[in-house]
Amino acid sequence: MEPIKRIGLLTGGGDCPGLNAVIRAVTKTAINLHGIEVFGFLDGFKGLVNNNFTKLDLERVSGIAHTGGTILGTTNRDNPFRYYSVEDGKEIYSDESDRAIDNINCLGLDGLIVIGGDGSLNIAHLFSQKGVPIVGVPKTIDNDLSATEVTFGFYTAVNTASEALDKLHTTAESHHRVMVLEVMGRYAGWIALYAGLSGGADVILIPEIPYHLDSVIEKINYRYTQDKKFSIIVVAEGAKPNDGEMVVSKMVTGSHDPIRLGGIGQKLANDIEITTGIESRVTVLGHLQRGGGPIPYDRILSTRYGVAAVEQLVEGNSDVMVSLKDNVITSVPLVEAIREIRKVPVDSDIVLAAKALGISFGD
Ligand code: F6P
Repeated sequence: MEPIKRIGLLTGGGDCPGLNAVIRAVTKTAINLHGIEVFGFLDGFKGLVNNNFTKLDLERVSGIAHTGGTILGTTNRDNPFRYYSVEDGKEIYSDESDRAIDNINCLGLDGLIVIGGDGSLNIAHLFSQKGVPIVGVPKTIDNDLSATEVTFGFYTAVNTASEALDKLHTTAESHHRVMVLEVMGRYAGWIALYAGLSGGADVILIPEIPYHLDSVIEKINYRYTQDKKFSIIVVAEGAKPNDGEMVVSKMVTGSHDPIRLGGIGQKLANDIEITTGIESRVTVLGHLQRGGGPIPYDRILSTRYGVAAVEQLVEGNSDVMVSLKDNVITSVPLVEAIREIRKVPVDSDIVLAAKALGISFGD
């Protein structure tokens, strides 16, 4: 096998704290340990299709591990295999994957590292089936990727949500209100669960457990009888009532998963206020969870993932994702990572621990 001389790198999908720490680790490892040149494509797969890239050197990646966002830019649209464009006012989808591969070949790249969630890793897998050596790095604040114990960015998002709960607590208590915090997590309730447990929530509602309004109300009323005249509820954006549907806020054309959720918190707060007469307010945490710098845990995890991704390419491995197993970095086939979304097991020790403390899941 010929030694690797040049690699490409891109960040795809929604941004996430820790992306820059991965970029830094990949670039430093490639240059310092292996003398490999690194090229970063701008705005995810869009940059790959349009041959829009920048050379990454040691100076460019210096001092960025603690910063939020991605210096390369990203997009959660622009799938090269179903590329969205508008021609003569008409929406068109075309397969631009060969154009992307031409760009990889013209640059003389020996491999591509894709930092992304399920959408970007699906695309990465398709490129590897077309012969491009690919290594994926698991990114998403939602922590919903199979085949890894944790994705980088998740614990930073939990930290942000937990701090928000601490603040909501004091105002809830002062005003004797029900405070609802809506957090991200489309089909998996990891952020809601961890933040709720850490932030002392009374009710945690997650997509995996459809909630009964009666049960939520019962918990609030019980607290009232115990002289706790306020309640804190964390609800994942993908949570739904047992007799209803998820609340969709908009559709995003060209996205791998075009559904954008949002609004369940407001619905819940309204339902609670109407039923109990207790004043209820909602806070939607939204993209604050994705913004800002990573906490130390995520800086370290991102760095470990970045180093391992380069080593995977150097060892000649492809169609794999670096992952964490028993707190050790390893790798898994990409198909395993994208096969299904990792949901919260409803009988996991953490759910049972929360229930032991009296936290209601609305079930
Ligand atoms: O990365 C996943 C996620 O954070 C979801 O929890 C959320 O629904 C979605 O991204 C929002 O994406 P955007 O607003 O960037 O389209």
